[in-house]
Amino acid sequence: MINDKLPKIWHGGDYNPEQWESSAIWDEDVRMFKLAGIDVATLNVFSWALNQPDEDTYNFEWLDDKINRLHENGIYTCLATSTAAHPAWMAKKYPDVLRVDFYGRKRKFGSRHNSCPNSPTYRKYAERIAEKLAERYKDHPAVLIWHVSNEYGGYCYCDQCQDAFREWLREKYETIEAVNKAWNTGFWGHTFYEWDEIVAPNILSEEREGEVSDFQGISIDYRRFMSDSLLDCYKLEYNAIRKHTPNTPITTNLMGTFPMLDYFKWAKEMDVVSWDNYPSIDTPVSFTAMTHDLMRGLKSGLPFMLMEQTPSQQNWQPYNSLKRPGVMRLWSYQAVGRGADTILYFQLRRSVGACEKYHGAVIEHVGNEHTRVFKEVAQLGQELGSLGDTLLDARVNAKVAIVYDWENRWATELTSGPSVALDYVSEVHKYYDALYKLNVQVDMIGVEEDLSKYDVVIAPVLYMVKSGYAAKVEAFVENGGTFLTTFFSGIVNENDLVTLGGYPGELRNVLGIWAEEIDALHPDETNQIVMKENWGNLKGEYSCNLLFDLIHSEGAEVLATYGSDFYQGMPVVTANQFGKGKAYYVASSPDSDFLQGLMDNICEEKGISPLLRVPEGVETTERAKDGQTYLFVLNHNKEQVAIDLGNKKYQELLQGNQVTGTVSLEARGVLILTEG
Ligand code: GLA
Ligand code: ZN
Repeated sequence: MINDKLPKIWHGGDYNPEQWESSAIWDEDVRMFKLAGIDVATLNVFSWALNQPDEDTYNFEWLDDKINRLHENGIYTCLATSTAAHPAWMAKKYPDVLRVDFYGRKRKFGSRHNSCPNSPTYRKYAERIAEKLAERYKDHPAVLIWHVSNEYGGYCYCDQCQDAFREWLREKYETIEAVNKAWNTGFWGHTFYEWDEIVAPNILSEEREGEVSDFQGISIDYRRFMSDSLLDCYKLEYNAIRKHTPNTPITTNLMGTFPMLDYFKWAKEMDVVSWDNYPSIDTPVSFTAMTHDLMRGLKSGLPFMLMEQTPSQQNWQPYNSLKRPGVMRLWSYQAVGRGADTILYFQLRRSVGACEKYHGAVIEHVGNEHTRVFKEVAQLGQELGSLGDTLLDARVNAKVAIVYDWENRWATELTSGPSVALDYVSEVHKYYDALYKLNVQVDMIGVEEDLSKYDVVIAPVLYMVKSGYAAKVEAFVENGGTFLTTFFSGIVNENDLVTLGGYPGELRNVLGIWAEEIDALHPDETNQIVMKENWGNLKGEYSCNLLFDLIHSEGAEVLATYGSDFYQGMPVVTANQFGKGKAYYVASSPDSDFLQGLMDNICEEKGISPLLRVPEGVETTERAKDGQTYLFVLNHNKEQVAIDLGNKKYQELLQGNQVTGTVSLEARGVLILTEG
């Protein structure tokens, strides 16, 4: 449990009372929070300037008042440290807190998430205010969890970052010769003789618009370094808080597949993962599902917090559509079904000015409870209340894992060639989506995860194979596991240097193939996957696009061949028996029919069955606890559907009734079913 002071799914969100100077409003907030079943408010996210009006003065009385006012009314606090936007006086007095952007421009005061992570001033004052807050609120009964800063992200290219980068490199490589080797600086005469010849890679040096670099080695290392620099800032605050509060959990809010930070590394420093979920109206629901699974995977399956979602609309998308009636509730249960133990919103009261005044909130500008949004929030609040602690800490048990790796993503996307259209996250999502549609539960895992608990491990576009990973895959397959990887895998090591001797490099042995060449065509151009024989639902021809590895079997069975072009007849899908297991290779990017057939066959082979067979557009996910399972059935359709539960008898948690046989589920409806 995140904190046993509140043994239920937390319901609440970001609350910025400092934007309102009226105790009538604060009283009204509390009245409405109670009506909506809100029991947690995230306070102090952007109040650094208010907390610290100058270098030596700190003022937390306003915060005492807010925390107490809420607590007296049964509402707990998720306490933020306020360091995600520095005060204007600090930028004026200490310009080292200001970032230098990708174009080399020194920023002025403004916006947020704006501090240079290697600024001595920023680090000193961020750590100090975290410590002051910890000293003051360490024993406050209202505080459930600490929320460090907010949505860390963005890179800086200033001179102090550049210096710190050189230090980081020195620690990592020890000698300049080792750097030259790792980055292959013999290319284009880049040999470095002194550490201070190395400069930050941005548009003034190695990089171009659109995440393209002339030197992947330095660019990948800069991303690692920036991720580490921001993580160091988080750790400074973490440790300052920890010194005073040994037990209260500490987190920071992540952003799903956000590209800039290596979240697997970050999660190790977090007591609980929390994240902000902002799909748009056309985000595939399976993409959101995948992202929840990824956030759960960061800490090997531990429940996470949904720290933010909008009750209705965003302000920062091009078209900020409202969540249709029922969708906020439906997506909230999607999060819970995939491991969330909290449902929190951004934000509780809509701002009166600045860029978030059109961002949805529990309390809208009209200021009363008679709105569609408020009523939906209140209904959910009531339901979450009645669920009590039933679902808290329940785990998701998956037999299939999909590998996701931030460094691999950086490497894949920073390459020059073979195709600008290659998008790591969408290739991963294609496989996820096929399994999602089959109602098979999936874990999203990092490369450090133990593979032995899975029957099937899928690693789409595993371009970068880190040291030891190929051996880990071999051991997994040898012991009976099924491994699948795709085109453009096994190409480079962790320094982005090609593994010589034939693609897919270190994975060649387990896959039993050799990829001789890689063709790239415009994504509109396709080739065909021609099945050699019918296999389950797979028969005849399918289409594929993007990249096309020209492969030879070195012992692998050829399941399908290319249908056209000069490599017509060469293998496109292979399976290699290796020890007690099998390793599949898919040499191009297939259409969704093929992927569903393939995933279906592999699951069948491994005896992995769907959670439930449901109509299209219905999602299933399951959590388990104390020998009891909780099956979530989520109807994303605009129409009612019939769900066949067979002859099992279930208790439905939201309605509190017994169900069996065929039940009808309304548009955007939710069932939470437990047997017995
Ligand atoms: C992010 C931030 C919030 C708010 C929301 C708006 O998630 O953390 O402060 O700006 O976006 O969607
Ligand atoms: Zn900097």
